[in-house]
Amino acid sequence: MKVERLELSKLTTLGVGGPAEVWTVETPEDLPLATQAPYRVLGNGSNLLVADSGVKERVIRLGGVFKEWDLRGWVGAGALVSSLLLKSARLGLSGLEGLYGVPAQVGGAIRMNAGTRFGEMVDALERVEIFHDGALHIYRPEELGFAYRHSALPAGAIVTRAKLRLREVGEEAVRAKIALVDAARKGQPKKKSAGCAFKNPVGDSAGRLIDRAGLKGLTVGRAMVSHEHGNFIVNLGGATAREIYTLLRRVQQFLPLEVEWEIWGNLEAEEVRV
Ligand code: FAD
Ligand code: EPU
Repeated sequence: MKVERLELSKLTTLGVGGPAEVWTVETPEDLPLATQAPYRVLGNGSNLLVADSGVKERVIRLGGVFKEWDLRGWVGAGALVSSLLLKSARLGLSGLEGLYGVPAQVGGAIRMNAGTRFGEMVDALERVEIFHDGALHIYRPEELGFAYRHSALPAGAIVTRAKLRLREVGEEAVRAKIALVDAARKGQPKKKSAGCAFKNPVGDSAGRLIDRAGLKGLTVGRAMVSHEHGNFIVNLGGATAREIYTLLRRVQQFLPLEVEWEIWGNLEAEEVRV
């Protein structure tokens, strides 16, 4: 186990966030000690807005055995979904294609039930192993309250590994589905972001609503509502968390949208007053 003080801006896709004490756990035996004080769990940092002042809790991230995976056995929660997907395509195993282009770790994808209209993480789960209350527990997906971009994991849950439910359909069929998902993502910006900032309201697209409200290009400092897709707030380079947060709230002054990102730290206090 390694404990270091790191800038979370280096560990998040938005590229913002201040310092935290980062505990990198290597085996399940590290978890009881790492969880003895208040903590947060970091995946690939692709759905997080972290305050410029950082977070006071420990940040636990998964290394060591948590990065190991076997598509026909268990996959570590610290493995990247994109690596699994690459291999599953080669083996002709179907189930993860809906997550093509989602830069998540397995644990973060489970926690958020990440996906697209082509499929969600829950669709590919057989069992989930979770550390909480000092021990490892195994759950069936039906027990974990999965819904659109939502799960109801136990308090303090650290997903440690999962057993997937993939179907043999052949490489061509898997690649054809990946191509469909890839095509649906063509309008998304390449600049630094944390994916869609808001959840879609039932039956509509937040991006379409933001676009229709004329909010594309709205800017606070170096943070901007993307011209390419209205639901992406992008870091143009050098944005602060407080600029991004202020922009998020500005959009909500126009539209009643629910934030999809997880917000860490004391951003209310940091909001830019303009
Ligand atoms: P993080 O962002 O690090 O964490 C997210 C949450 O999960 C936090 O609450 C964290 O505490 C928790 N968490 C992480 N790991 C664990 C664990 N092991 N145990 C318990 N809790 C954990 N999302 C979609 O759903 N669909 C998309 O199409 C999509 N496209 C994206 C495109 C881009 C370019 C980017 C940057 C993001 C996109 N996202 C998308 C958002 C994001 O990738 C997902 O929400 C993803 O599931 C987050 O996973 P992560 O590993 O990065 O988790
Ligand atoms: N649209 C606009 N203007 C925009 C954006 C979208 O008019 O600026 C229109 C599109 O033309 C389309 C409709 O809105 O008719 C839907 O757009 P899109 O296909 O891009 O899908 P979305 O609902 O905006 C969802 C997910 C994405 C996922 C894509 C691809 C949410 C909040 N968003 O976007 O997920 O990648 O589908 O399937 O559910 C994420 O959750 O972080 C994320 C990026």
